[in-house]
Amino acid sequence: INEPMRDQLHRPIRDLRISVTDRCNFRCTYCMPKEIFGDDYRFLPKHELLTFEEIRRVARLFASLGVKKIRLTGGEPLLRGQLPTLVEMLLQVEGIEDIGLTTNGLLLKQYAQPLYDKGLRRLNISLDAMDPELFALMNGRGITPAVILENIEHVRKIGFQIKVNMVVQKGVNDQEILPMAAYFKAQGITLCFIEFMDVGNDNGWSFKRVVTKKEIYERLSASYVLEPLEQHYYGEVAKRYRYSDSESEVGFITSVSESFCSTCTRARLSSEGKFYTCLFASEGFDLREWIRGGATDDEILGAIRGVWEQRNDRYSDERTEHTERVRKKINMSYIGG
Ligand code: GTP
Ligand code: 5AD
Ligand code: SF4
Ligand code: SF4
Repeated sequence: INEPMRDQLHRPIRDLRISVTDRCNFRCTYCMPKEIFGDDYRFLPKHELLTFEEIRRVARLFASLGVKKIRLTGGEPLLRGQLPTLVEMLLQVEGIEDIGLTTNGLLLKQYAQPLYDKGLRRLNISLDAMDPELFALMNGRGITPAVILENIEHVRKIGFQIKVNMVVQKGVNDQEILPMAAYFKAQGITLCFIEFMDVGNDNGWSFKRVVTKKEIYERLSASYVLEPLEQHYYGEVAKRYRYSDSESEVGFITSVSESFCSTCTRARLSSEGKFYTCLFASEGFDLREWIRGGATDDEILGAIRGVWEQRNDRYSDERTEHTERVRKKINMSYIGG
C-alpha cells in the first residue's frame, strides 16, 4: 500500500496532463509563431513518442500514487492517430475518474463522435476571437471562427461538456472580451478567460500584454452582474462566476495576477515521456529511458516518488514576487499548458 505522496510544499499529486504530440495545425502567434515553427522545424520523430501502451503504463503508475484526473493535450492532440483508442485505454486504468481533452477544435467534426463513443465527455476548446480577420491572424493558419463555432455546435449536439478557453492579450484581442462573453452566455457554454502567461522563450510576453482578471471582470460588470461560485474541488484552476440572470458561467485563469501554486497538484508528461513538475520547469525527468531500459514498475514508482517528493516549484508565485527573470523554459506546444 502506498502512503499518500506529498511534495516539499505538502501538495499531493492529483492530475496528470499528458501531451500526446508536439505538433499542431495552428501557428498561434503567442505559442508557435510561424517564424520559429516553420517548414524546417524539427518535431519529434514517431519512435521518440511514447506508445499508447507506454502512456497507459505511466498513467497506471501515476494513478497508484494519487492521480485521479487526466488531461490530454499537445500540441494539438487530435493530430495523434487513433486517439479514441488511447481514451478507451486510459479510462480502464484503476483510479482514473476523469479524462478531459484540450484542443483547438479544428478537427472535431472528424473525431468528436469516436472520442465520445470511447467514453470521453469533457472538451476544452480554445478560441481567442470572434472577429474573422483577427482570429485568422492569431491562429496563423487563416482559420475563421465560424469553423470552430460550427464544431462547438457539433460536439454540443453529441453531448459533450464544453469549456471554451480564450487567452487575452492587451492590444491584440482584448476588444473581443465582450463579444465572446455575449455569444457564449447565450449559448450556455462556459467561457474561460486566461491571463497571458510567460510560457516558453519566444512568445513575446511582457507584463504590459497581460489583461488581469480584475480588468476583465470590470469590463464584464459594465454589462452583467456576476456571482462567485464555490470551487468544485481542491486545487481547481479556474475561478468561476455565474451570470445573475442565467445559468451560464464564466471562469478566470489568473496565473499572473493571483497565482495558484500553493494548491498545484499537477504533473505533466511530455509526448516523449519526460515528467515535469511545473509548466515552467526547465528540465524534465526522462521516464522513457527507464521504461525502454526495462525498469520494473517498482523502480519507476520509486523514481516518480523521488521526483515528486523533491518538488518545490512555485514559478507563478515567484514571478509575482520578483517579476521579470531570465530563465530557459520549455515551450507550451511541447508541454501542453
Ligand atoms: P479543467 O479544469 O479540467 O477543465 O482544465 P484546465 O482549465 O486546468 O485545463 P486547460 O487545458 O483548459 O487549461 C487552461 C489554462 O490553464 C491553460 O492556459 C493552461 O496553461 C492553464 N493551466 C492549467 N494548469 C496550470 C498550472 O498548473 N499552472 C499554470 N500556471 N497554468 C495552468
Ligand atoms: N498563456 C496562457 N495560455 C496559453 N495557452 C497557450 N499559450 C498560452 C500562454 N502563453 C493556452 C491555449 C489553450 C491552453 C492549453 O493554453 O490557448 O487554451
Ligand atoms: Fe495554438 Fe494550442 Fe496549437 Fe499552441 S498548441 S499553436 S495554442 S492551437
Ligand atoms: Fe503549478 Fe508551476 Fe503552474 Fe505554479 S506555475 S500552478 S507550480 S504548474
